[in-house]
Amino acid sequence: MEKIIINGGTPLRGEVEISGAKNAALAIIPAAILSQDVCVIENLPLSISDVCIMMKILNQLGARVKIINKHTIEIDARSVNSYVISNDMTKHLRASYYFIGALLGRYGRAKVALPGGCYLGPRPIDQHIKGFEALGATVTIEENAIVNAKAENLTGSPVYLDMVSVGATVNVLLAAVKATGLTVIENAAKEPHIVDLANFLNSMGADVRGAGTDVIKVRGVENLHGCTYSIIPDQIEAGTFMVAAAATKGNVLIKNVIPKHLESISTKLVECGAEVEEFDDAVRVSLGERAGKCNIKTMPHPGFPTDMQPQMAVLLALADGTSIISESIWSNRFRYVEQLNRMGASIKVDGQLAVVQGVEQLMGAPVKADDLRAGAAMIIAGLAASGTTEIEDIHHIDRGYEDVVAKFSSLGATIKRELRPDPNELNGAS
Ligand code: UD1
Repeated sequence: MEKIIINGGTPLRGEVEISGAKNAALAIIPAAILSQDVCVIENLPLSISDVCIMMKILNQLGARVKIINKHTIEIDARSVNSYVISNDMTKHLRASYYFIGALLGRYGRAKVALPGGCYLGPRPIDQHIKGFEALGATVTIEENAIVNAKAENLTGSPVYLDMVSVGATVNVLLAAVKATGLTVIENAAKEPHIVDLANFLNSMGADVRGAGTDVIKVRGVENLHGCTYSIIPDQIEAGTFMVAAAATKGNVLIKNVIPKHLESISTKLVECGAEVEEFDDAVRVSLGERAGKCNIKTMPHPGFPTDMQPQMAVLLALADGTSIISESIWSNRFRYVEQLNRMGASIKVDGQLAVVQGVEQLMGAPVKADDLRAGAAMIIAGLAASGTTEIEDIHHIDRGYEDVVAKFSSLGATIKRELRPDPNELNGAS
């Protein structure tokens, strides 16, 4: 079993370069099959496992994918010859459902097994289906949770989303770019990666306007062409390093970021007493003394991102005073609390609220990464704690953080990956 082992207590210092955005990459890779041409995607976080799986799905559909270098791929979508994606591919990640919108856009047909991903609570797709149906598709869920979507002709239409959903906004956008006429998505998500997807589609010749606001207008075009496109920096990876800098009372320059995307995180760090200095494409975060308390409520963008909630909880666990965290997106996002409390944190969860009573010090302990962002929180906790922290189930972390051990090492952390025998295997159990 592979673990991340951290000897904590060293303030992080130095500079770190942020990779391309995972969530943008996961929408842009399926979008590439909408063109019958070649797209070159740059600044792609190629070594994270979610991106690797999306590339395998492209291969399963018949696309040819060439790796140009560590962060650039070429997708030749001319050879795509299937609209079917099996469960062995989709079970690994939720974003595999973006292929439903992309395949509908390309073929008017998609047969895609319902996805897996982090277990954060029930993950309905009713809004995605509502959008596809508004565009004229028939959608049925068949045996073994296969989504079967068909459309003779996709026709632009108004689509009102009942709640702000990143997934539904992406999927409807993908299905609409080649539909006949105008689609208007109301109550659309405004996350930076929605804007990035729209920019990518427009680089291929699509006509998408309003991305980044809650009304997106898509005028369908007949054909899309290839393009070269560079993905935006990862807002959540940047936020994770920002919080890690503060939680270890360090001083870190976080490079290759868009400071505007980080405002909700910067604001909360400043409220906790950290100093956040913004540059054109970098931010410096430092904290010289114990953090102060602050309250957090997760909200769709531009609110505080649910994907930063577990990491921020580590800083609040060490803060002077009691903070309240309110989680409004996912029902099962507090699973990391049990692990943090093992390290000496004092957090009580009541439904969608967590009451975090700050303690002076966390202590290293064996813990596990319950999901991707919970894993990031465990790393920050281990870096800030005294003694040794061993994190297991790190495959969750590998889903979304590129070179995470090397990046933290370069900031002075004592952190490594290690293969340790699994005690269950030693006992002969599976
Ligand atoms: C959500 C987050 C995103 C984060 C990701 C992984 C928001 C708005 N979205 O995106 O920032 O990166 O989780 O943690 O913050 N819903 C429905 N029906 C649908 C679709 C969604 O009821 O058809 C509900 C979901 O159950 C959830 C909420 O809407 O409570 C937001 O879902 P959605 O934004 O689609 O989820 P993700 O795209 O996974």
